[in-house]
Amino acid sequence: MTALPSYVDFRDVARRRLPHFLFEYYDGAAFDGRTAEANVRDFSLLPMEQRVLCDVGGVSTATSLLGEACALPLAFSPIGLAGMAWRRGEVAAAAAAQAKGVPFSLSTTSVCDMAEVADIAPPWFQLYMMRDRAFMADMIDRAQAQGCRTLLLTVDLPVLGTRWRDARSGLNQRGIGGAIWRARQIAMRPGWALSVGLGGKPHTLGNISHGLGGGKSLAACMAYTSSSLETNLSPATIEWVRSLWCGNLLVKGVLRESDALAALSAGADGIVISNHGGRQLDGVPSTASVLERISRAVTGRGVVLVDSGIRTGLDVYRALARGADAVMVGRPWLFALAAAGRVGVEKMVDNLQADLRIAMALSGTRSIAEIRMQGGFPAI
Ligand code: LAC
Repeated sequence: MTALPSYVDFRDVARRRLPHFLFEYYDGAAFDGRTAEANVRDFSLLPMEQRVLCDVGGVSTATSLLGEACALPLAFSPIGLAGMAWRRGEVAAAAAAQAKGVPFSLSTTSVCDMAEVADIAPPWFQLYMMRDRAFMADMIDRAQAQGCRTLLLTVDLPVLGTRWRDARSGLNQRGIGGAIWRARQIAMRPGWALSVGLGGKPHTLGNISHGLGGGKSLAACMAYTSSSLETNLSPATIEWVRSLWCGNLLVKGVLRESDALAALSAGADGIVISNHGGRQLDGVPSTASVLERISRAVTGRGVVLVDSGIRTGLDVYRALARGADAVMVGRPWLFALAAAGRVGVEKMVDNLQADLRIAMALSGTRSIAEIRMQGGFPAI
């Protein structure tokens, strides 16, 4: 790995370390992956502005987000099965986020249970809505009891998107044929097989298994989750979660102004503009292309976060100048984790922060508030 690993470097190492079907799952997107491509491309094409002849000594990336002090306006997006990328992967990534002063989001479908991660620091918790309301209420209560202060309610997954790469890699293949196909891929990655395959057990979905009474296999938890998703997600769903959740509530998976405003009216404190990393409906707009319009509609009414396509500190700057309060990254932390564990994830945050500082200095801004104000948005 190079001394200054970028997203591409971490991804390359992750591809060499992970069994093929796992890399394909993390890297893949819906159908042909056009929206996933557009996410990255469109952020990278948003123009930056060069401003000179001003004092840019003492640039600071510090900010506050939903009542928490953050070293930079960044949070980790939730990623299912991250614990298969590294031994007890969600714990390792949460430790890195904690060390670097940014929030970590734990997926409903994490390998590690929320209590295991909360031992490091209470994460933000991401909720997939399932039909069984008692199951959901219990999960919300547990997250509250673990000290989680922010809940992300994902609304863009009433059904799972079609991922062609998961069909081609053998991930979705059932029966003994599928098991042999995957076992052969695992055999080609002995380092992963020893460290994660054997050393990273138990392999389950910790939060789901707990809700089902404990001791359930990964396959049983995944089958439960995919067959239980709530297909009727509405403002009333948000109101229901709001009535149980005392902390901050963010609605994640919004791409339209009207949906953003509906989420806020139903009691959300903010939204995450997201197309799930392009993993749900291929062909929908990139988040970069809708961010400014939604930010202008929402500004002053709620917090705006954005993910899907942020790869560098320059992208962080671009998002803030277009009205985001902060950004979230998913695959960047996942690949850094798969490549080098906690150390890799810390390095990933360092790199984003270093690049953001340079972007700020060269565009004549010294604080996060100034970036927003230069885009015509109020300071946070
Ligand atoms: C995904 C879901 C499970 O694979 O978050 O994108």
